[in-house]
Amino acid sequence: PQQAYLAGQKIVITAGGTRERIDPVRYLTNDSSGKMGTALANAAAAAGAEVELITTAQQLTLPQVKVTAVQTASEMATAVQSRFEAADIVLMAAAVADYRPAAPADHKLKKQGAAGLTIDLVQNPDILAQLGNAKTHQFVVGFAAETNDLLANAQTKLTKKHADLLIANPVGSGLGFNADNNTVTLLWPNAAPEPLPTASKIALAQTIWQKIAQVRA
Ligand code: C5P
Repeated sequence: PQQAYLAGQKIVITAGGTRERIDPVRYLTNDSSGKMGTALANAAAAAGAEVELITTAQQLTLPQVKVTAVQTASEMATAVQSRFEAADIVLMAAAVADYRPAAPADHKLKKQGAAGLTIDLVQNPDILAQLGNAKTHQFVVGFAAETNDLLANAQTKLTKKHADLLIANPVGSGLGFNADNNTVTLLWPNAAPEPLPTASKIALAQTIWQKIAQVRA
Protein backbone atom coordinates (compact mmCIF):
# COMPACT_ATOMS: atom_id res chain seq x y z
CA PRO A 1 0.00 0.00 0.00
CA GLN A 2 1.14 3.51 -0.81
CA GLN A 3 2.31 5.76 2.01
CA ALA A 4 0.10 8.75 2.84
CA TYR A 5 3.04 11.15 2.70
CA LEU A 6 0.77 14.09 1.78
CA ALA A 7 -1.82 13.43 4.49
CA GLY A 8 -3.27 16.65 5.89
CA GLN A 9 -2.07 18.76 2.95
CA LYS A 10 -4.58 20.93 1.07
CA ILE A 11 -3.42 21.09 -2.52
CA VAL A 12 -4.81 23.18 -5.38
CA ILE A 13 -3.78 22.12 -8.89
CA THR A 14 -4.59 23.70 -12.25
CA ALA A 15 -4.63 21.83 -15.54
CA GLY A 16 -5.28 22.31 -19.24
CA GLY A 17 -5.07 25.15 -21.71
CA THR A 18 -7.30 28.13 -21.03
CA ARG A 19 -9.89 29.05 -23.67
CA GLU A 20 -10.23 32.73 -24.41
CA ARG A 21 -13.48 33.64 -26.18
CA ILE A 22 -13.46 35.46 -29.51
CA ASP A 23 -17.21 35.03 -30.00
CA PRO A 24 -19.85 32.50 -28.84
CA VAL A 25 -18.44 29.74 -31.08
CA ARG A 26 -14.72 30.51 -31.31
CA TYR A 27 -11.81 30.81 -28.92
CA LEU A 28 -8.03 31.03 -28.64
CA THR A 29 -6.28 28.18 -26.88
CA ASN A 30 -3.14 26.00 -26.93
CA ASP A 31 -2.18 22.33 -27.14
CA SER A 32 -2.20 21.56 -23.42
CA SER A 33 -4.28 18.44 -22.74
CA GLY A 34 -4.40 18.65 -18.95
CA LYS A 35 -2.85 15.18 -18.64
CA MET A 36 0.10 16.24 -16.46
CA GLY A 37 -2.08 18.27 -14.09
CA THR A 38 -4.65 15.48 -13.89
CA ALA A 39 -1.91 12.93 -13.13
CA LEU A 40 -0.56 15.23 -10.42
CA ALA A 41 -4.04 15.57 -8.89
CA ASN A 42 -4.57 11.80 -8.81
CA ALA A 43 -1.10 11.15 -7.40
CA ALA A 44 -1.52 13.76 -4.64
CA ALA A 45 -4.90 12.30 -3.66
CA ALA A 46 -3.44 8.79 -3.62
CA ALA A 47 -0.74 10.09 -1.27
CA GLY A 48 -3.39 11.30 1.16
CA ALA A 49 -3.79 14.98 0.22
CA GLU A 50 -7.07 16.87 0.00
CA VAL A 51 -6.98 17.90 -3.67
CA GLU A 52 -8.88 20.44 -5.73
CA LEU A 53 -8.32 20.47 -9.48
CA ILE A 54 -9.19 23.64 -11.39
CA THR A 55 -9.24 22.54 -14.99
CA THR A 56 -10.25 23.39 -18.55
CA ALA A 57 -9.92 19.77 -19.65
CA GLN A 58 -12.83 17.39 -20.04
CA GLN A 59 -12.22 14.97 -17.22
CA LEU A 60 -13.11 11.44 -16.54
CA THR A 61 -14.40 11.24 -13.01
CA LEU A 62 -11.56 11.57 -10.54
CA PRO A 63 -13.06 9.82 -7.52
CA GLN A 64 -10.73 11.30 -4.89
CA VAL A 65 -10.43 14.82 -6.33
CA LYS A 66 -12.78 17.80 -6.20
CA VAL A 67 -12.93 19.09 -9.77
CA THR A 68 -13.92 22.63 -10.78
CA ALA A 69 -14.31 23.37 -14.48
CA VAL A 70 -13.18 26.72 -15.86
CA GLN A 71 -12.56 28.06 -19.34
CA THR A 72 -10.68 31.33 -19.25
CA ALA A 73 -7.55 32.57 -17.49
CA SER A 74 -9.68 35.07 -15.59
CA GLU A 75 -11.99 32.33 -14.32
CA MET A 76 -8.98 30.23 -13.37
CA ALA A 77 -7.43 33.19 -11.52
CA THR A 78 -10.62 33.76 -9.51
CA ALA A 79 -10.95 30.05 -8.68
CA VAL A 80 -7.32 29.72 -7.56
CA GLN A 81 -7.21 32.99 -5.61
CA SER A 82 -10.32 32.14 -3.60
CA ARG A 83 -8.67 28.87 -2.49
CA PHE A 84 -5.18 30.26 -1.88
CA GLU A 85 -5.44 31.27 1.77
CA ALA A 86 -6.53 27.80 2.88
CA ALA A 87 -4.06 25.97 0.65
CA ASP A 88 -0.75 24.43 1.68
CA ILE A 89 0.48 23.84 -1.86
CA VAL A 90 -0.61 25.35 -5.18
CA LEU A 91 0.67 23.76 -8.37
CA MET A 92 0.04 25.56 -11.66
CA ALA A 93 0.24 22.92 -14.38
CA ALA A 94 -2.24 24.79 -16.60
CA ALA A 95 -1.09 26.45 -19.79
CA VAL A 96 -2.63 29.85 -19.14
CA ALA A 97 -3.10 32.09 -22.18
CA ASP A 98 -1.00 35.24 -21.89
CA TYR A 99 -3.58 37.29 -23.82
CA ARG A 100 -7.35 37.31 -24.39
CA PRO A 101 -9.56 39.10 -26.90
CA ALA A 102 -10.18 42.60 -25.58
CA ALA A 103 -13.86 42.60 -26.50
CA PRO A 104 -15.36 39.16 -27.17
CA ALA A 105 -18.32 39.47 -29.56
CA ASP A 106 -21.75 38.44 -28.26
CA HIS A 107 -22.70 37.12 -31.71
CA LYS A 108 -20.85 34.98 -34.25
CA LEU A 109 -18.44 37.18 -36.20
CA LYS A 110 -19.18 37.42 -39.92
CA LYS A 111 -16.58 37.03 -42.66
CA GLN A 112 -14.73 40.28 -43.14
CA GLY A 113 -13.59 39.58 -46.72
CA ALA A 114 -10.20 40.04 -48.29
CA ALA A 115 -9.14 42.84 -45.96
CA GLY A 116 -8.68 40.25 -43.20
CA LEU A 117 -9.70 40.41 -39.58
CA THR A 118 -7.85 41.92 -36.65
CA ILE A 119 -8.58 40.85 -33.09
CA ASP A 120 -7.25 43.08 -30.33
CA LEU A 121 -5.77 41.19 -27.39
CA VAL A 122 -5.18 42.35 -23.83
CA GLN A 123 -2.89 40.74 -21.28
CA ASN A 124 -4.20 38.16 -18.82
CA PRO A 125 -3.17 38.20 -15.17
CA ASP A 126 -0.14 36.02 -14.40
CA ILE A 127 -1.72 33.84 -11.73
CA LEU A 128 1.52 32.16 -10.65
CA ALA A 129 3.37 35.47 -10.33
CA GLN A 130 0.52 36.86 -8.21
CA LEU A 131 0.61 33.79 -5.95
CA GLY A 132 4.40 33.96 -5.67
CA ASN A 133 4.15 37.58 -4.53
CA ALA A 134 1.26 37.00 -2.14
CA LYS A 135 2.31 33.71 -0.53
CA THR A 136 2.76 33.49 3.20
CA HIS A 137 2.92 29.83 4.24
CA GLN A 138 2.06 28.31 0.84
CA PHE A 139 4.45 26.28 -1.32
CA VAL A 140 3.98 27.45 -4.91
CA VAL A 141 4.91 25.33 -7.92
CA GLY A 142 4.97 26.37 -11.59
CA PHE A 143 5.64 24.74 -14.91
CA ALA A 144 7.61 26.06 -17.85
CA ALA A 145 6.79 24.50 -21.21
CA GLU A 146 9.38 25.68 -23.70
CA THR A 147 10.36 24.91 -27.28
CA ASN A 148 13.84 26.44 -26.86
CA ASP A 149 16.33 27.53 -24.20
CA LEU A 150 14.36 25.39 -21.74
CA LEU A 151 16.46 25.67 -18.61
CA ALA A 152 17.40 29.32 -19.03
CA ASN A 153 13.75 30.32 -19.55
CA ALA A 154 12.57 28.13 -16.69
CA GLN A 155 15.23 29.54 -14.34
CA THR A 156 14.06 33.06 -15.15
CA LYS A 157 10.45 32.06 -14.35
CA LEU A 158 11.46 30.46 -11.05
CA THR A 159 13.07 33.71 -9.94
CA LYS A 160 10.64 36.22 -11.45
CA LYS A 161 7.50 34.48 -10.20
CA HIS A 162 8.96 33.66 -6.74
CA ALA A 163 8.07 29.98 -7.13
CA ASP A 164 9.36 27.37 -4.68
CA LEU A 165 9.76 24.87 -7.52
CA LEU A 166 9.64 25.27 -11.27
CA ILE A 167 9.16 22.18 -13.40
CA ALA A 168 10.66 22.60 -16.86
CA ASN A 169 9.45 20.51 -19.76
CA PRO A 170 10.26 20.66 -23.46
CA VAL A 171 7.26 20.95 -25.81
CA GLY A 172 6.75 20.76 -29.56
CA SER A 173 7.27 18.02 -32.18
CA GLY A 174 5.55 15.25 -30.23
CA LEU A 175 6.95 16.23 -26.83
CA GLY A 176 5.10 17.39 -23.76
CA PHE A 177 1.61 18.56 -24.70
CA ASN A 178 -0.94 15.77 -25.07
CA ALA A 179 1.71 13.02 -24.84
CA ASP A 180 1.50 10.27 -22.22
CA ASN A 181 5.19 10.57 -21.37
CA ASN A 182 7.11 13.61 -20.29
CA THR A 183 10.69 14.69 -19.67
CA VAL A 184 11.04 17.19 -16.87
CA THR A 185 13.77 18.96 -14.96
CA LEU A 186 13.12 20.26 -11.45
CA LEU A 187 14.46 23.72 -10.67
CA TRP A 188 14.66 24.57 -6.98
CA PRO A 189 15.84 27.95 -5.69
CA ASN A 190 19.60 28.06 -5.21
CA ALA A 191 20.24 24.51 -6.40
CA ALA A 192 21.53 22.77 -9.50
CA PRO A 193 18.85 21.65 -11.99
CA GLU A 194 17.54 18.17 -11.17
CA PRO A 195 16.66 16.28 -14.36
CA LEU A 196 14.30 13.32 -13.96
CA PRO A 197 14.38 10.33 -16.32
CA THR A 198 11.71 10.36 -19.07
CA ALA A 199 8.66 8.53 -17.76
CA SER A 200 4.90 8.37 -17.99
CA LYS A 201 3.11 11.44 -16.66
CA ILE A 202 1.53 9.17 -14.04
CA ALA A 203 4.91 7.93 -12.77
CA LEU A 204 6.43 11.42 -12.92
CA ALA A 205 3.54 12.82 -10.89
CA GLN A 206 4.37 10.42 -8.05
CA THR A 207 8.06 11.26 -8.18
CA ILE A 208 7.34 15.01 -8.16
CA TRP A 209 5.15 14.75 -5.04
CA GLN A 210 7.70 12.57 -3.28
CA LYS A 211 10.39 15.19 -3.97
CA ILE A 212 8.14 18.02 -2.76
CA ALA A 213 7.23 16.10 0.39
CA GLN A 214 10.93 15.51 1.12
CA VAL A 215 11.76 19.19 0.74
CA ARG A 216 8.90 20.22 3.03
CA ALA A 217 9.53 17.54 5.66
O1 C5P B 1 5.41 32.52 -18.32
P1 C5P B 1 4.85 31.18 -18.60
O2 C5P B 1 3.44 31.20 -19.13
O3 C5P B 1 5.71 30.30 -19.46
O4 C5P B 1 4.84 30.48 -17.17
C1 C5P B 1 4.33 29.22 -17.00
C2 C5P B 1 3.84 29.05 -15.60
O5 C5P B 1 3.11 30.21 -15.18
C3 C5P B 1 2.87 27.91 -15.48
O6 C5P B 1 2.97 27.38 -14.18
C4 C5P B 1 1.52 28.59 -15.71
O7 C5P B 1 0.47 27.87 -15.12
C5 C5P B 1 1.73 29.93 -15.04
N1 C5P B 1 0.99 31.04 -15.64
C6 C5P B 1 0.01 31.69 -14.91
N2 C5P B 1 -0.67 32.75 -15.45
C7 C5P B 1 -0.37 33.18 -16.69
C8 C5P B 1 0.64 32.56 -17.44
C9 C5P B 1 1.29 31.48 -16.89
O8 C5P B 1 -0.25 31.27 -13.78
N3 C5P B 1 -1.05 34.22 -17.20
